[in-house]
Amino acid sequence: MAPNTRPLPRDNPLCTCFPRCFGTLGPGGLICASCNWPSRPVYRLVLPGLSVRNKKHIGAGGMLPCPYTMATDATQQVWDSVAALNSTITDHVASVVPKSLHDISGMQVVFTVLALAVSLLAMEQVVYRVKKGGLPGPAWTIPLIGKFADSLHPSLEKYQEAWNSGSLSATSVFNIFIVIASSTEYTRKILNSPMHAEPCLVASAKKVLCHDNWVFLNGKAHVDYRKGLNTLFTSRALGIYLPIQEAIYKKHFQLWTASPKSEAEPFMLPLRHLNLETSLRVFCGNYISEQGAKQISDEYWLITMALELVNFPFALPGTKVYRAIQARKNAMKWFEHTAAESKKRMALGEEVTCLTDAWIRAMIDAREDRNNEDLGAEQRRVLVRDFSNREIGMVLLSFLFASQDAMSSGLTYLFQHLADHPEILRKVREEQYAIRNNDVEAPVTMDTVEKMTYTRAVVKESLRLKPPVLMVPYLARQAFPISKDYTAPKGSMVIPSFWNSLHDPAAYPSPDEFLPERWLEGPDSPAAKNPKNYLVFGNGPHNCIGKEYAMQHLVTVIGAASVLMNWEHKRTDLSEKVMIIATIYPTDGACLKFSRRPAPPMDAPAAVAAAM
Ligand code: HEM
Repeated sequence: MAPNTRPLPRDNPLCTCFPRCFGTLGPGGLICASCNWPSRPVYRLVLPGLSVRNKKHIGAGGMLPCPYTMATDATQQVWDSVAALNSTITDHVASVVPKSLHDISGMQVVFTVLALAVSLLAMEQVVYRVKKGGLPGPAWTIPLIGKFADSLHPSLEKYQEAWNSGSLSATSVFNIFIVIASSTEYTRKILNSPMHAEPCLVASAKKVLCHDNWVFLNGKAHVDYRKGLNTLFTSRALGIYLPIQEAIYKKHFQLWTASPKSEAEPFMLPLRHLNLETSLRVFCGNYISEQGAKQISDEYWLITMALELVNFPFALPGTKVYRAIQARKNAMKWFEHTAAESKKRMALGEEVTCLTDAWIRAMIDAREDRNNEDLGAEQRRVLVRDFSNREIGMVLLSFLFASQDAMSSGLTYLFQHLADHPEILRKVREEQYAIRNNDVEAPVTMDTVEKMTYTRAVVKESLRLKPPVLMVPYLARQAFPISKDYTAPKGSMVIPSFWNSLHDPAAYPSPDEFLPERWLEGPDSPAAKNPKNYLVFGNGPHNCIGKEYAMQHLVTVIGAASVLMNWEHKRTDLSEKVMIIATIYPTDGACLKFSRRPAPPMDAPAAVAAAM
């Protein structure tokens, strides 16, 4: 026997092999020898239940000399401490590992783990196929991640593949089973079945918007909350917002035309800024300082970026969700401040100057049972309760969140479509000059906006052709019989999608063309006869609460732009290619160039002014 090796008797507790074998103690720890099987791999227990493979193999039949044969007596103490430690560990393991496991070999453990993994992967495929039933969609799902790569780089073309594969189709991402509805019938059915499905947004939304935000309510609590908020979008309320909107449009138009650019440049971001400032001032008036508005505007992009379908699950510093949460906290400070200040002003009976004021005034009126023609009995019932500053702040946050991306997308395409169709832009101008009596600086009112029939048709058509929101994820609360042949299992994601309804040639002949006239062809036109297809703002209990305001904003901004500015669009190969960042944008960012448009002579006929 080589010096300094210490043979251990069979089944000696110092042997750390799992299961035990003979061992030889060397200074580096235990090295097994004389296992029953030649060339048996040796495992060294590091922690109870966790074994690490030791590269040493036992020589055939005999004892392997300890590699530390040069060890001296000085190492004896180290060996003893190691031996004592191993003994403690082994005793502990012996007490926690069932006796039956002591006879399992290392290979058996490896095979068991492998078999388990293979079974789980096979099970994943079986479960996917059972849930999928007869629906079109991939026959097998990519193990564990499913269509994760597609969700990281979403494209309209890939979505269209799914939409066109059937009115219901299936896929899976990270083991979330997904049913995609693309027909008007099934899309509307999902949106209108609150007992079966509820909006679920993306996983990060609750972290970013706060778990207790009203947008995550469902059923009666949700219906009640909405009743209180409807008062913010009546025509009286919209009339209050109009002058605020116009002032901001003019400020931004001034900026865009102050130093004319020689080349068209991507305008997506300036359009986002116009939208954000409009929303902030309409929602919060002047309760937010210039610097606060700038901070919210600058940081809002962080929120958009965090709302991807799949995100790093923990909001650790440096992650997108973490940054979005910080942006939300900063915005919330301003929104709560708005609520507090507005409460003070409204209590003094001062003038309503923004949406928050309108809401607080409605609450005071409801509480004092004061005459307010905007309030029905149900709304009064809801509004008499005292909404805290935080609750009001969260509603403002939800409005900003729900509106910002959709409005920016809608506005970007509106400018692009009109520049690409000068004849249609000319007609918009003609209508605008006629309504404004050629006075391009005159403020608009609710009455004048009412008269903007052609401009409204243009906005409607632009939103149809390029709907900002392609789909809304819902969650099946229980098994959901969407069609007579297919029931989506409880817990699956069911996604109503709007594109096919909005491009259905039966409702919209030549569906890929920009034809605002289709909205003006009377009650017998296909568009008028198929109102159910127009799903730009969703449908059912969660349909867009801000749709009237959104339409008013887009109509008035484009109306004002048409008489105050000329603009060109530089078409590129990517102008028609859709880029998806929560909502949709032209992939080239919409290259636009603006210049000031001189006011026409006051006596020029509208058609002449428009042609100038
Ligand atoms: C062009 C602009 C807009 C588009 C295309 C749009 C579209 C949508 C869509 C598709 C939904 C989901 C509907 C559903 O699940 O059935 C929605 C919900 C919502 N929208 Fe909009 N939206 C726009 C502007 C706005 C604005 C300006 C606001 C607020 C001022 C707003 C506030 C909301 C809210 C709060 C919800 C959730 C409603 C609920 O869950 O009850 N949206 N929107």
